[in-house]
Amino acid sequence: MGFKPLKLAIALTCLAHVQVQAATTMWFNKTTIIPIGNGRLGAEVFGQVPNEVLVLNEDHIWSGSMNDPNNKNCPRALPSVREAIWNDDLATAQNTVDASCMANPISQQVFQTAGNLTLAFPSVTTSSITAYNHTLDLATAIATTTYTTRDGVQFTRTSFASHPDNVIVMKISANVTGKVGFEAKFTTPMDTPAFSASGNSLTLTGRGVKHTLPVSITFLARAEISVVGGSVQPGGNGDTLVVAGANEAVIRIAIDTNYVRYNDISGNPEAKVSGTLAAVRNKTWQELRDAHVEDHSGLFGRVDITLGTPTKSTYLPTDIRRTLPGGADADADLFALYAQYGRYLGIASSRKTEPSNLQGIWNQETNPEWGSKYTLNINQQMNSWLSEPLNIAETLDPLWNLISELAERGKVTALEEYNITRGWIGHHNTGIWRDSAPIDAAYYGMWPMAPAWLMLNVYEHYKFEPDNVDWVKNFAYPLMKDLCEFYLDLLVVAPKNVEPQQYLVTNPSMSPESGIGTYNGTQVSLSYGSTIDNSLLRDLFNHTVEFATLLGVDGDFSANLTSTMRRLMPIRINSKGQIQEWGRDYNSKGSDAHISNLYPLFPSAQIDPRLNTTLAQIANVTLNGRGDSFNGWPTAWRANCYARLLDGEKAYYFMKRLLSLYSYDNLWSANLVFQIDANFGGANAVAEMILQSHNGEVHLLPAIPSAWASGSVKGFRVRGGFTVDMTWSGGKLENAVFKSTSGTAANVRYKDKVVRLNLSKGGQTTLGISDF
Ligand SMILES: *[C@@H]1O[C@H](CO)[C@@H](O)[C@H](O)[C@H]1NC(C)=O
Ligand SMILES: *[C@@H]1O[C@H](CO)[C@@H](O)[C@H](O)[C@H]1NC(C)=O
Ligand SMILES: *[C@@H]1O[C@H](CO)[C@@H](O)[C@H](O)[C@H]1NC(C)=O
Ligand SMILES: *[C@@H]1O[C@H](CO)[C@@H](O)[C@H](O)[C@H]1NC(C)=O
Ligand SMILES: *[C@@H]1O[C@H](CO)[C@@H](O)[C@H](O)[C@H]1NC(C)=O
Ligand SMILES: *[C@@H]1O[C@H](CO)[C@@H](O)[C@H](O)[C@H]1NC(C)=O
Ligand SMILES: *[C@@H]1O[C@H](CO)[C@@H](O)[C@H](O)[C@H]1NC(C)=O
Ligand SMILES: *[C@@H]1O[C@H](CO)[C@@H](O)[C@H](O)[C@H]1NC(C)=O
Ligand SMILES: *[C@@H]1O[C@H](CO)[C@@H](O)[C@H](O)[C@H]1NC(C)=O
Ligand SMILES: *[C@@H]1O[C@H](CO)[C@@H](O)[C@H](O)[C@H]1NC(C)=O
Ligand SMILES: *[C@@H]1O[C@H](CO)[C@@H](O)[C@H](O)[C@H]1NC(C)=O
Ligand SMILES: *[C@@H]1O[C@H](CO)[C@@H](O)[C@H](O)[C@H]1NC(C)=O
Repeated sequence: MGFKPLKLAIALTCLAHVQVQAATTMWFNKTTIIPIGNGRLGAEVFGQVPNEVLVLNEDHIWSGSMNDPNNKNCPRALPSVREAIWNDDLATAQNTVDASCMANPISQQVFQTAGNLTLAFPSVTTSSITAYNHTLDLATAIATTTYTTRDGVQFTRTSFASHPDNVIVMKISANVTGKVGFEAKFTTPMDTPAFSASGNSLTLTGRGVKHTLPVSITFLARAEISVVGGSVQPGGNGDTLVVAGANEAVIRIAIDTNYVRYNDISGNPEAKVSGTLAAVRNKTWQELRDAHVEDHSGLFGRVDITLGTPTKSTYLPTDIRRTLPGGADADADLFALYAQYGRYLGIASSRKTEPSNLQGIWNQETNPEWGSKYTLNINQQMNSWLSEPLNIAETLDPLWNLISELAERGKVTALEEYNITRGWIGHHNTGIWRDSAPIDAAYYGMWPMAPAWLMLNVYEHYKFEPDNVDWVKNFAYPLMKDLCEFYLDLLVVAPKNVEPQQYLVTNPSMSPESGIGTYNGTQVSLSYGSTIDNSLLRDLFNHTVEFATLLGVDGDFSANLTSTMRRLMPIRINSKGQIQEWGRDYNSKGSDAHISNLYPLFPSAQIDPRLNTTLAQIANVTLNGRGDSFNGWPTAWRANCYARLLDGEKAYYFMKRLLSLYSYDNLWSANLVFQIDANFGGANAVAEMILQSHNGEVHLLPAIPSAWASGSVKGFRVRGGFTVDMTWSGGKLENAVFKSTSGTAANVRYKDKVVRLNLSKGGQTTLGISDF
């Protein structure tokens, strides 16, 4: 009797393992980058034989230093810029901004790699190796590489990046004693590198590579190797560690910098790294592993996603699943894996210090594409979309920190670039120095609306957890109110001859990176009153009034925001029956990538087919008019838009494009090079197809494609303060379990019927198909 439950438990564990692994396991029978990270430290694990490489990142290793980039000529130039724009002399306007408003230096600082830890194993030819398997278990965040050499020895490398212990750990073992031997060495492209080895530790120090400003970040990386059996000792010229004849070796890697805050670089990397390693030195590999798995699974384990029934294809290597000859239709669970991978990458690259940048924390370069910065005209916002609905909201903590520091520096930029004495501002990029000035060129950079977009993420954080009133009071509302003040002073009245209704508009204004046309030989993007600007302001003012009302403060200020909101330009329809992109109806086809005039559809919810079919149809015509997408993030954005239009097949079409055309073997998304935004945006699209919750309704299966006719999810979050577990089959809802985290009421839609749910806080209720 006593033994029965034990046997049953074992049987169930094995079964569960087989069933869930396809959506949480990646594996490859060839060398591929597997990313691991603890939010601050990242490593690319290549799985190479005989010479393994770990590319290492620490999220504060950036070029440059804090400086004063603001162009103080701008306030004097702005009146003539505005005048030129009213006169539609757009070349003059843009040239004036280029001459008088752009930051100095004009290019922002960049994120840089720390370098590599290379492990040279005894020479074997790859062809002599059998049973090679390079895997990532998303549920434990452990990467494992196994292979067997010709003499029958099986080698195993197990790697993880521990958030609680602040180190990257790799264990190398073999199933025959005394067989583990390798030489470990750091290499780096960074400036003034110094390498040393002593006892069982290997150290690299270096500093940033110059990029327009003097460097100020210094860093130290140290690997300590402990062995069971055999030996470890310095080799080479005292800059390598040699492990010989061991049964196993465990490498603990710590990296730190002198960065404390954007205006404080007094940290001591040696002291931080020594402290970190001292704290883990006496912990066994098993202890480190267990603490890591417990921490990671506390976040990752909240959500399960199953799509479709596993097929033969489901158990193939991940890179082959991505490009199946029959298309992804044969393997719906691949999209569950994609969504879970987005969650995995968020947990790995955005916890407690910096948010994920354009490449997360997996960058090999000293001058990466687009600086691997925080790009604020879609990409950083996209990086954050999945965090709330897919139940890893904690991974946004670093973003909140970034925003509040950006606001500190942005106060000065508001004054110096716009002569506006209240509020704060930022433009289309920032980095660890929290730069807030317009960069690159007027065409790309003169866009002071980026912070308003970040505030949508801030607002959503509250909507998903509406008992977060202290957070609204202490963090969200003060930042939003200040930002509103800046915009109240920035808005100008359009002259009657330009806009008979004399709307309040932004001027200069752009629809990010979308060209209006060629004026007098110049490609221009600046005009007035872009649709995204008007829509961002409608959201910011609306949400700020909502928060002021919630907190019972600033009635007069709210009244002003409300009256200002009424004077903003509404969404316009252009001569092609599309959402007009700028105040004037220019004959431009718009950007191939950015669909900023669809911001009101997604990520905002000002256009909603359930509320206004006219606007939804126009959004649909606009999207269709842009045609197929190229690259990762534009594809992910389109998938989300179609999900919001309740068009599951079209959303699915773009998700298939994202996986088969704009993903690498390891499912990293591509934007010419690896760029992580679409991993997050695509994961969110999967969620939007299954469950939506904006404009006061929770919508079950709003855009489910026929390829995902059956499935189940657990732990999805919805606005209003609930988590939802849901099962469907044959394209029809079976049931949805609502658990209140703080919410008490919800309007739940399934197809055309809406039911009102009343729950006590913390309560739970199940809706079945018969409720609709
Ligand atoms: C990897 O696995 C696939 C699918 O089983 C197979 O077609 C391919 O030949 C394998 N590649 C190697 C290098 O073993
Ligand atoms: C900046 O604003 C102040 C106060 O409104 C005004 O006196 C000053 O002339 C402005 N400076 C410029 C360069 O526009
Ligand atoms: C490789 O490992 C993964 C994860 O354990 C497993 O699912 C897969 O079947 C393995 N592949 C082979 C060829 O053994
Ligand atoms: C080590 O693993 C290999 C591959 O699985 C196997 O062939 C061999 O028998 C194992 N050796 C020992 C001593 O277990
Ligand atoms: C680090 O490893 C990557 C991947 O193998 C390689 O491209 C790069 O050149 C290496 N960098 C250094 C400094 O060794
Ligand atoms: C680690 O273990 C050694 C030897 O057992 C001991 O002397 C030392 O105090 C321990 N350090 C910590 C930080 O626990
Ligand atoms: C009210 O809004 C207008 C712009 O519409 C602005 O000029 C004015 O300063 C605002 N007043 C307050 C009290 O914020
Ligand atoms: C067009 O460019 C030419 C040459 O740069 C310049 O002389 C002329 O004034 C410009 N015209 C307008 C309308 O901007
Ligand atoms: C915000 O916008 C929504 C949707 O248009 C509207 O129902 C609501 O009244 C607005 N709130 C405020 C405070 O203006
Ligand atoms: C839908 O939006 C259009 C365009 O803004 C507007 O003219 C119309 O009144 C709206 N319809 C409804 C039902 O709100
Ligand atoms: C969008 O347009 C397509 C093609 O014209 C049409 O099939 C679809 O029903 C439209 N969707 C909406 C929401 O209007
Ligand atoms: C929930 O409460 C509303 C009134 O607040 C009521 O109209 C509705 O019938 C209730 N729904 C259920 C399912 O009890």
